[in-house]
Amino acid sequence: MARRKKLYEGKAKVLYEGPEPGTIVQYFKDDATAFNAEKKDVIDGKGVLNNRLSEFFMTGLGNIGIPTHFIKRLNMREQLIKAAEIVPLEVIVRNYAAGSMAKRLGMEEGTRLPRPIVEFSYKDDSLGDPLVPEEYILAFGWANQQELGEIVDMALRVNDYMSGVMFGVGIKLIDFKIEFGRVYDGEFPRLILADEISPDSCRLWDIETGEKLDKDVFRRDLGNLTDAYTEVARRLGVLPSNVTHPNTNPTLIN
Ligand SMILES: Nc1ncnc2c1ncn2[C@@H]1O[C@H](COP(=O)(O)OP(=O)(O)O)[C@@H](O)[C@H]1O
Ligand SMILES: [Mg+2]
Repeated sequence: MARRKKLYEGKAKVLYEGPEPGTIVQYFKDDATAFNAEKKDVIDGKGVLNNRLSEFFMTGLGNIGIPTHFIKRLNMREQLIKAAEIVPLEVIVRNYAAGSMAKRLGMEEGTRLPRPIVEFSYKDDSLGDPLVPEEYILAFGWANQQELGEIVDMALRVNDYMSGVMFGVGIKLIDFKIEFGRVYDGEFPRLILADEISPDSCRLWDIETGEKLDKDVFRRDLGNLTDAYTEVARRLGVLPSNVTHPNTNPTLIN
């Protein structure tokens, strides 16, 4: 079989040309990076978990009417997605202060925000993905006014869905990052949710204990990242079969 064409290799994923025009195969690597790739490691099994978790969230969001790039999972590490023209923004939704926001405003991490806050970073690793105001986005044409409105509306719907799903399994959704892309119906662009939704791109805290179940475990050396992601997948009932350890002992039924 001919080697398929690699389109892009990023920090966490590789994109290959898909089987049909307009499709891409997204491969989830085990690589973990933080602080703009200053800190790096390979975390066994992370890619498998993120492939499953992103499938789970994208499918759920699709079911409530949010258009996404997800088509189908192909295997343990790969999923087929719609090729999109990525809007060069990291769209961040925050429910509680954490990370850069907590630092910037001198707030204690975990402080409940008065309402969900949507903010934007310009997607450019060499600049460290700087926070940008809407004015920049419009002036530089990264997105137009109508698109920006749709992006905020969709981001807040994603937040409601994700917060609810997480709350149901005892997890607080502190914040998350998503990306959007354009697909074309003829010459008319339509926005879809792209990239991934996984514990790499969310902050997830256990409601009872406050334990972190996301990439901060890696960023801050808090323990085993695979264990944390496995716990999220287990609670959501989406553990890949080869990672589960079913009790194979006979069960007494009386
Ligand atoms: N549906 C899509 N079509 C085209 N590009 C996409 C799509 N979804 C995600 N991407 C892009 O693919 C890349 C995914 O790989 P990743 O390792 O996350 O890269 P990066 O290091 O740039 O964040 C990202 O640059 C992301 O913007
Ligand atoms: Mg990325």
